[in-house]
Amino acid sequence: MNILNTTNNNPIAFFDSGVGGLTVYSKFRKKLSNENCLYFGDTKHLPYGNKTKEELISYAKFILDFFKEKQVKAVVIACNTSSSAAYDSIKDSYDFKIYPIIQSCAKILSELPINRLGIFATQATIKSGVYESEIKKYNPNMVIYPQSCHNWVNIVESKAQDSKENIKIVKDDLDKMLKNNPDKMVLGCTHYPYLLDVLSKFCPKDKFIDPAEYFVDYIIEDLTNLNLLNTENHIGYEKMYVSANPEQFKLAAEMFYHVKSEVEVIN
Ligand code: DGL
Repeated sequence: MNILNTTNNNPIAFFDSGVGGLTVYSKFRKKLSNENCLYFGDTKHLPYGNKTKEELISYAKFILDFFKEKQVKAVVIACNTSSSAAYDSIKDSYDFKIYPIIQSCAKILSELPINRLGIFATQATIKSGVYESEIKKYNPNMVIYPQSCHNWVNIVESKAQDSKENIKIVKDDLDKMLKNNPDKMVLGCTHYPYLLDVLSKFCPKDKFIDPAEYFVDYIIEDLTNLNLLNTENHIGYEKMYVSANPEQFKLAAEMFYHVKSEVEVIN
């Protein structure tokens, strides 16, 4: 790929169906505060987990076309569902670097010193089988236990994770997974780290893996190798976009990341 160095100070863009991708973005921002950043929450189509592959590809194309107009230097797919359903179809259509969360973290996950790995993810991600196939490319012996969690994204987006009813939903899904006796469990949807407090009431916190930790280091290393890091000595700007309900987005985001800037609606 021919990436011009003149793009160094152009923004890096992140997207997800909603606030989930902020679990990736906030970690990135903390490490590289001088980068100029864009974030798009596709709240009009939330949740992504119950959408078809065709729908998910068309949402991703719309967002990447939008980012292209903004002259981004790279796009981070801070969404497992979109990485599993859309990345393969769009990856060669743009002349900037695209980082999909699942494919970028698979090697690191495959090298964990464990044998049994649980994956919690959305219906669409689990149906795609991409976590399994990507990890097995590097480690065919890893035993994978995929499990979809139907309501978790809505619980997070509505900030209702502390209600009795929702704690039970999360606990029931966790209990189902624990029957497999996994060594570790991947939070394979960027919304799920918001549920760590609930999950860790029933199982030690260190059993859960938030791939965002690995993902952000991977992106930074790659940007460094491509000589694409921002060269300005400043605090980079941040611009937030959603496709609907900016106030609700701001409110849900607050749990995890303080959105200082205006949130612009893009249709
Ligand atoms: N946070 C996204 C993911 O990582 C999408 C969740 C959804 O909208 O269903 O899969």
